[in-house]
Amino acid sequence: MATTLISGGTVVSATGASAADVLIDGETIRAVLQPGSELLGVDLARSVDRVVDATGKYVIPGGIDAHTHMQMPFGGTEASDTFETGTRAAAWGGTTTIVDFVVQTVGQRVEDTLAAWHEKAAGNCAIDYGFHQIIGEVNDASLTALRGLEAEGVTSYKLFMAYPGVFYSDDAQILRAMQVGAETGLMTMMHAENGPAIDVLVQQLVAEGKTDPYFHGIARAWQMEEEATHRAIMLAHLTGAPLYVVHVSAKQAVAQLAAARDKGQNVFGETCPQYLYLSLEDQLGASSDEWGAFEGAKYVCSTPLRSKHEHHQDELWTALGTNDLQMVSTDHCPFCMKDQKELGRGDFSKIPNGIGGVEHRMNLLYQGVVDGHLTLERWVEITATTPARMFGMYGKKGVIQPGADADIVVYDPAGRTKLGIDETHHMNMDYSAWEGFEIAGHVDTVLSRGRVIVDADAYLGRAGDGAYVRRGLSQYLR
Ligand code: URP
Ligand code: ZN
Ligand code: ZN
Ligand code: ZN
Repeated sequence: MATTLISGGTVVSATGASAADVLIDGETIRAVLQPGSELLGVDLARSVDRVVDATGKYVIPGGIDAHTHMQMPFGGTEASDTFETGTRAAAWGGTTTIVDFVVQTVGQRVEDTLAAWHEKAAGNCAIDYGFHQIIGEVNDASLTALRGLEAEGVTSYKLFMAYPGVFYSDDAQILRAMQVGAETGLMTMMHAENGPAIDVLVQQLVAEGKTDPYFHGIARAWQMEEEATHRAIMLAHLTGAPLYVVHVSAKQAVAQLAAARDKGQNVFGETCPQYLYLSLEDQLGASSDEWGAFEGAKYVCSTPLRSKHEHHQDELWTALGTNDLQMVSTDHCPFCMKDQKELGRGDFSKIPNGIGGVEHRMNLLYQGVVDGHLTLERWVEITATTPARMFGMYGKKGVIQPGADADIVVYDPAGRTKLGIDETHHMNMDYSAWEGFEIAGHVDTVLSRGRVIVDADAYLGRAGDGAYVRRGLSQYLR
C-alpha cells in the first residue's frame, strides 16, 4: 500500500486551522503531525512513496454533497449526468462523497429500486457514494421496506409535499411514514412545498398565457414553502421523527426551522448554492439572444430561485453562520437545454426541474469565506463535517484524523477558478448555470481514499474507484 505525505499546509477542520502534515497509509489517514512532532526523527518526506506539497494551501476533508440526482428519471426525461460523469465532475470540484437519491414511485417495490440504483452506480463512480431512499408511494409495503433500510446502509428517506401525481405524499401518508421514521431513527428528508396549491396557481398562470420560466417562480411562492415547512415540522414534532428539510430557499422557511430548533426539536435544514447566489429576477427572469425569455429555463428548479428584493440570500448566509441552517448540498439535477429543458417551451410547468452544480459547491462556498459570510472552519463544517455527521458517516468521512478515510482536498486560496461551460466544467450539460462566475480559490489536489484523483488540473482517477458507503444513523441528533 502506498504512503503519501501532504506537507507544509494548513489543516482546516470544523473547529480550527493549524500547520500540520498529513500522513496517509494506503486508503487511511495514519497521522496528523503538528510541526515538531516528527515521527521519532524519521525523515518522512524521504520514506513515503509520494509527497504532496501543500505550502501556502489549505488541507481540508473532501467535500460531501449529500443531495445529488445522477441519471434520475424526472420530468419526462433523465438527469443528464450519469454516475460516471457526475461523480467525475464532483471530484474535479473537491467533492469526494455524494449521497444520491434512489427513486421509488407508484407501483414499485422499494427493494427493487434500491437494487436498481446499486446497479447503476456500481463500477461507475469516481468517488464514494451512498444512497437516500425516495418514497414516492407511502403504503404498507413501502413502510415495511423502510424498516429494512438501515441494514442496507441507507439511513434516510425523502418524502415530497410537492409534485402531485409524481412523488407527492399527503399529510396522512407523511404522518404514517414519520411514525416509522421515529421508530427506526431514519432521517426523514422533506421536499417542503405545498404541491396541490402550487398546481392551481400553475394552471391559472398557464391559462393566462404566462408561460415563461419566470412564472415558475411566481407559482411556487415563498408562502408555499413556509406553510409546508411548518406542516412538516408539526408532523415531525407529533411523531418524534427527526426531520431534515432539503433545498431551503425562503427566509420564512428558515424562520420556521429556527423556531423549532430553539424549542429543542431535531429539525435541520440544507440550502444550495443557487439560492445563495441566483435570483428570480436575474436568472429565472433572464432573456438572451439565443433563447429569448426561455433563457430562464436554465434556472428552473424547485424550490425556485427567490426574489432579490425580498433579501432571502442575506438571510440564508446568516442562517448558515448561526447554524439555523446546518449544511449546503447542491441538489445536482442537471438537464441540457437542448431536448430536455426545451420540453417546457411554451409551458414552464413542463420544464424539467433541476440545476447542475456538483462541481462547484466547494468553490462557491469558499467564496462565502472570501466575502465574509463564513469562517474558514465553518466552510469545512457545512461542506464536509456536518454532512458526514448528519448522515452517519462521521469518523470515516468529514474529518482529517487518524483512522479516517484519506479523502482530502488541497485548496489554494491564492488561486482562482472560472466557472462556465468552457472553463471548469466537467458536468454533462450544454450550459452552465454559473457562466461567468469567477471564484477566489482553486481545488489543486484531490485524494479519494488515499489515491490522488485530481492534481494540477489533471484527472487521474477512474470510473469504479468509488465505493458504496454503508451509512449509520445520524450522528447529529440531540
Ligand atoms: O428542482 C429540483 N430540485 N429537482 C430535483 C428534484 C428535487 O425535488 O430535489
Ligand atoms: Zn426536492
Ligand atoms: Zn433534489
Ligand atoms: Zn484548474
